[in-house]
Amino acid sequence: MANKKDKLHFTTKTIHVGNKIDETGAAVTPIHFTSTFRQPTFNSNSEYVYSRVGSPTLAALEENLAMLENAHHAFAFSSGMAAMTAIFMMFKPGDHVLISRNVYGGVFRLVTKVLNDNKVDFEFIDTTNLETLSKSIRDNTKLIHLETPSNPLLELADIEQVSNIAQKHNILVSVDNTFMGSYGQRPLDLGADIVMHSTTKFLSGHSDVLSGALMVNNEDAAEKITLIQNTGGALPSPFDAWLLLRSVKTLSVRVEKQFKNAEIIAKWLDSNSRVTKVIYPGLQSHKQFDLATKQHSSPDGDPVYGSMISFELDSSINLDNFAKNLSIITLAESLGGVKSLISCPYSMTHASVPHEEKTELGITPNLLRFSVGIEHADDLISELDYAMNHN
Ligand SMILES: Cc1ncc(COP(=O)(O)O)c(C=O)c1O
Repeated sequence: MANKKDKLHFTTKTIHVGNKIDETGAAVTPIHFTSTFRQPTFNSNSEYVYSRVGSPTLAALEENLAMLENAHHAFAFSSGMAAMTAIFMMFKPGDHVLISRNVYGGVFRLVTKVLNDNKVDFEFIDTTNLETLSKSIRDNTKLIHLETPSNPLLELADIEQVSNIAQKHNILVSVDNTFMGSYGQRPLDLGADIVMHSTTKFLSGHSDVLSGALMVNNEDAAEKITLIQNTGGALPSPFDAWLLLRSVKTLSVRVEKQFKNAEIIAKWLDSNSRVTKVIYPGLQSHKQFDLATKQHSSPDGDPVYGSMISFELDSSINLDNFAKNLSIITLAESLGGVKSLISCPYSMTHASVPHEEKTELGITPNLLRFSVGIEHADDLISELDYAMNHN
């Protein structure tokens, strides 16, 4: 975009960046359903040649995605896990990678079951503790991968401090920003080199597209990821790319409402005698409330706390009966969409983690993870209340 347009607000840019009007005058970026492009000559150097390497729909999306995180480069993938895989593929045997200890289960499986033989040394550590982090750095450490807030305990890593430490050792920092989304946290502005999203979540926002993205400010990493993306070919289809581009246009309004709802519901849960614990970064009782206030901010600079709440129900409440009484809140994995979803990490997302480990982390059978949508907060509260009391 021209310089003047760079000064526009985030919410305006979500609608306009990448969404160019073409020669037909179509007000909305069209979908280019083509796998290949006609070349003018045998030796032409055309912008588009073959859709795995680039297409107008993907280019529009990637321009828009880069803007969301103030990135120099953005790369769209067919899922968050494909984006995650691309990050780890940058490293070679002998390299050491530090990872937040309670990352998304899929990332844990990728590292321990798929990439465990490629001789990159992956190490899980408590990235909320800067002393542990500093002590874990070795001469061959090449990447620190943070997931903040983490799933489902909403622990935070201090992106700015971790990036400062990493920079002194010439180590890259990547951040899985899936749980806050670009409206609530922009890690590159805090010094990270790579941001990863399961765009399946907040950025698509409607629980209807599986996709992922990397936003990158390190030129060397961008070059490697370009090759991995267009050679590996784990790209979204033109239709998914278009759907995502459309969804980002409403990111600000959706997420503002979700965050506002979550603050109301977290307070209600906190005052409810049938709820034994509430974890929400916007409650003063959250052990990293100050860090949340510093690190999570709207594009206009206001503190925001997300739309993910984890809470523990009194053990007298039967979870199956509780779930049966939910109708607008859907029992399902995933998060970040306009429709509220609830899940039980113990038996769902973290089913493969041994009981002892879950207990040590605080993932109990009664802990629920609530992804708050944009329904009216009163309706969500009255449904939760009904489900707790008709048990
Ligand atoms: C924090 C986090 N990272 C990565 C992923 C993987 O994304 P996807 O399901 O789009 O592959 C998820 C999915 O739930 C997630 O929650």
